[in-house]
Parts: sequence; C-alpha cells; structure tokens
Amino acid sequence: MDLKKVHGEGSTAVRALDGVSLRFPGGEFAAIMGQSGSGKSTLLHILGALDKPTSGTVTVGGTELSGLSDRKLTLLRRERMGFVFQFFNLIPTLSAEENILLPALISGEKVGRHTRRLEEMLDLVGLTARRNHRPDELSGGEQQRVAIARALIRNPDIVLADEPTGNLDSKTGAGVLDLLKESAARYGQTIIMVTHDPRAAATADRVVFLADGRVVDETRSPEHDEILERIKTLESAG
Ligand SMILES: Nc1ncnc2c1ncn2[C@@H]1O[C@H](COP(=O)(O)OP(=O)(O)O)[C@@H](O)[C@H]1O
Ligand SMILES: [Mg+2]
Repeated sequence: MDLKKVHGEGSTAVRALDGVSLRFPGGEFAAIMGQSGSGKSTLLHILGALDKPTSGTVTVGGTELSGLSDRKLTLLRRERMGFVFQFFNLIPTLSAEENILLPALISGEKVGRHTRRLEEMLDLVGLTARRNHRPDELSGGEQQRVAIARALIRNPDIVLADEPTGNLDSKTGAGVLDLLKESAARYGQTIIMVTHDPRAAATADRVVFLADGRVVDETRSPEHDEILERIKTLESAG
C-alpha cells in the first residue's frame, strides 16, 4: 500500500514507484501493463520480496513484509511464491527435470518427496517426453514451460511473472498464458503478470495500467476490447 521506490541517490535518483496501492485477491489472474520504464518490474520485485520499497507496505496473507528478517523473507519466497522471468533463467547444464526440481533441492528437501508433483508438473506443461533434455535442446516455448513448472513445483500461493511471453512468438506465448491460467484454475493460485503485450494482458481477469510509477487505470475482464483500444492509444503516444 502506498508503495514508493526510488532507485539510486542524489542527482541520479529515479522515482520508479510513486504511491502505488493495490490489492490482489486470492485466485486472481492480474496483469500489470505499462510502457517500458513505467515501474512494472520494480513493482513485481517488491511484491515478490526481491526488493524493498523506499516507503509503503506490502502485506502477503496478513503478514507485513517490512517486519520480516531477510531469512524470513527468503523462506516466504520459497514457501509461497513462484517466479517466472522473460529470459527463462534455466541452469544450462541441468536437464528439464532437474531444473524443475531446483527450488525443492535449494530448500534442502528430498527429491523423493516431489516425485508425484514432478510427474504432475511435467504433465501440466506437456514435457514428460522431454524431461531429460537440457535447455539448449529445447525450444524457447519449451524452456519457458520448464520455468513455469519450476515456479509451480512447490505449489506456491502466488505466481509472479515478468514478461513471461516477452521472448516468445505470439502462438507460443499464447500457449504459455493458457498454461498459467490453467494452473491458476487448478490450484487456486494468484497470478500477477507484468507485460507490455496487449494480447497477453487481455487474457487476465484484471489489468492494472501503470505510467510513471503510478496506477493510472484499471479494467476487468471482459472489457478486453477496451483494453486493446487503450493500449493502441498508449503505443501511439509512446
Ligand atoms: N536498479 C535500478 N537502479 C536504478 N534505476 C532503476 C533500477 N531499476 C529500475 N530503474 C529505473 O526505474 C524506472 C522503472 O523501471 P522498471 O521497474 O524496470 O520499469 P519497467 O519494468 O516498467 O520497464 C526506470 O526509469 C528504470 O530505469
Ligand atoms: Mg520490466
């Protein structure tokens, strides 16, 4: 609530967020849209406890993040959040399956505990037949599906995705969005997706528009025609 973020100090300081107040109900698929530099990634990083606001508060399931130690924040991220990024961020030397299991391994859990969940995730993202392939043996869309399975392996309440379709052609991107929606529907997750792609945003239940670090507008499904119009206007302005 009332999130502000200034990157840097003095003459080079950049006000990335300028008083953002948002609430994401459980199970919602929300998109955050805005031009490059509008503060989308900064907001997502703060919501995901990857970065701290200069002022303002973030509350996750009743817990205010500013009151938590770094250790507790790390635990909260591991227990409750899944992250998907534009550049997939897979470990090149590990197989698809090992990449998916990575969050479990990092948490020091026995892989055996996740066998069933791994099969479920491979099935969800349609990569059972490619489980032993390394990232460089997979297409961009397949790599992003591995990244999504990795984000979901520990069944997070919240999935934070920063331009998840940014590096994919539109058809592959649509497949990735379907996957996120299906996961949200199946597991009741809250999805917060940052994008500047109007087609990606139009698949969400709700679209929040950011400009210069402020929320300037908000639309809800099924106002998609309106959303697309607004984006065209934004694009022609920028
Ligand atoms: N680590 C950083 N240090 C300094 N400035 C930053 C940093 N991260 C982002 N910014 C600046 O903050 C503003 C918002 O950036 P960002 O949140 O990445 O926007 P978006 O994701 O919408 O493109 C931009 O002006 C950007 O240059
Ligand atoms: Mg960004």
